Amino acid sequence: MFCQWKVAFYRGMWYNFGVKILGIETSCDETAASVVEDGVRILSNVVVSQIDIFKEYGGVIPEVAARSHLEVMMPVINKALSDADCSWDMIDAIAVTHAPGLLGSLLIGTLTARTLAILHNKPLYAVHHLKSHVYANWLSSEKSSALESEDFSGNLPTFPLLALVVSGGHTQILYMSGHNRFEIVGTTVDDAVGECFDKVAKILGLPYPGGPSIAEAALKGDALKYHLPHPKVPNLDFSFSGLKTAVLRAVQKELNLPISHPSHDLKNHLSEQQIYDFAASFQKTAVEILCEKIEKSKEKYPDARSVVVAGGVSANKALRTALPEAFFPLPTLSGDNGAMVGAAAYYEIQSGVSPTDPYTLNIYPRISIV
Ligand code: KG4
Ligand code: ZN
Repeated sequence: MFCQWKVAFYRGMWYNFGVKILGIETSCDETAASVVEDGVRILSNVVVSQIDIFKEYGGVIPEVAARSHLEVMMPVINKALSDADCSWDMIDAIAVTHAPGLLGSLLIGTLTARTLAILHNKPLYAVHHLKSHVYANWLSSEKSSALESEDFSGNLPTFPLLALVVSGGHTQILYMSGHNRFEIVGTTVDDAVGECFDKVAKILGLPYPGGPSIAEAALKGDALKYHLPHPKVPNLDFSFSGLKTAVLRAVQKELNLPISHPSHDLKNHLSEQQIYDFAASFQKTAVEILCEKIEKSKEKYPDARSVVVAGGVSANKALRTALPEAFFPLPTLSGDNGAMVGAAAYYEIQSGVSPTDPYTLNIYPRISIV
């Protein structure tokens, strides 16, 4: 399909290059579109976040999210094309998140992508959201395309690798033997780590989304002030619901309030310094739990040559500091965006994945990566 492009041999694989993909992402509360060239170079990246709407409610309301996507979807796509100086003729393929995520949100993105693929006669690729997060680590807005220069020696992750995916809905460690080849090493048995940041922030009265609020509050806190237990989960799985409850109990204990005291009222009794100290102690514990499991995974997979971190929580500075050898996306690409969708689709194409049928593409709100 891409035979009209130049082809280059790089790190044991043939690559098409000059391939421009329009990536569309609407799995949760960001409406995003981007044009990505060769899976590594961002030509445009437009993200409209609904954070300001959901701050008021303290969380995402699925129906409101879907309606907001609908309102801005086409303006976001048109801006992505114009920022990239691209007409539809110059776009080689469309890629869209079809799983997992909020049902209504996924529907808006996929229906838009399906319509555009039919209208402009473009191949359509359906991409799993966690795969996209992982591929944010191949993207750079600063470096030129890896494939443009024959002697490219840029610092890209090397296979086989371990990917720590930490988002609002997922916490997993994946083993990647090569592009587009995933195996699940460990997964959360209950809450995701991002969800835990969000819930703890609520207990502490910090604004939504909880991750950035906790990170900011933690800067002024004493991370050793409160001891929070690490969950005893066998193998390489995670559990974060116990950590959230541990924070709740520690706050109640600190305030001398019974465990029956409503959690939504605790914030009214905490001093600013107590909030900072709880935020710092919680963040330290969450980061330690993630790092412990990565260390154990490295022992189980000694052939892993890189560790990549992906998903919204990968923006966390304490986590970045705790894993100095790991690859992290550019901070602007940690959260949901269309560029990572375009990058993931490029490597799917390279791996021989066929385009999907725009007339029948379905969405899967809860499907696993493998
Ligand atoms: O990947 P993402 O944008 O959406 C999902 O796919 O879920 O991740 C959102 C999650 C939220 O739980 C948010 O609180 C968390 O990422 N997050 C952070 C930080 N920035 C966002 N968590 C910790 N530290 C941050 N700096
Ligand atoms: Zn995400």
